[in-house]
Amino acid sequence: MDAIVLLKDDHKTVERLFKQFEKAGPKAHKEKQKIVGQVIEELTAHTYIEETIFYPAARADVPETGGHVLESVEEHHVVVWMLSELKKLDPADEHYDAKMTVLMENVRHHVDEEEQDWFPKVREALGRKRLQELGERMAEAKSEAPRDPLKIPSAAR
Ligand SMILES: [Fe+2]
Ligand SMILES: [Fe+2]
Repeated sequence: MDAIVLLKDDHKTVERLFKQFEKAGPKAHKEKQKIVGQVIEELTAHTYIEETIFYPAARADVPETGGHVLESVEEHHVVVWMLSELKKLDPADEHYDAKMTVLMENVRHHVDEEEQDWFPKVREALGRKRLQELGERMAEAKSEAPRDPLKIPSAAR
């Protein structure tokens, strides 16, 4: 599996969950909590494999992406803290939907930058074989990803 294809698949999965959340009614607390649980699971594993495998490889092999990578880590920092808050928050709390809305805005902006601004540069520089090799390592690492968003390296930055 190509590393960038794998990451884009994750982005699509998360976007599908966001759409489900947006469609759920204001009183659908149980349903929204379930969707948010899946979002937490997906994004925690995704940020983990980006931060431990993909971002360091991009930075090492494509030095001009360094600024993008550092900015992306700061965005992850905000996202994982918001995930940890959502995990504890009662879905009936008046802050729940608002927090989720801001999380979705942050993630959509972040995904756009990854996909439009700097993943294409990484694809060009790394080539098919290296991306395959990274993708295989990332697919494996997913199963050992932490479940707690605050265990993601950027949480402690
Ligand atoms: Fe990311
Ligand atoms: Fe991503």
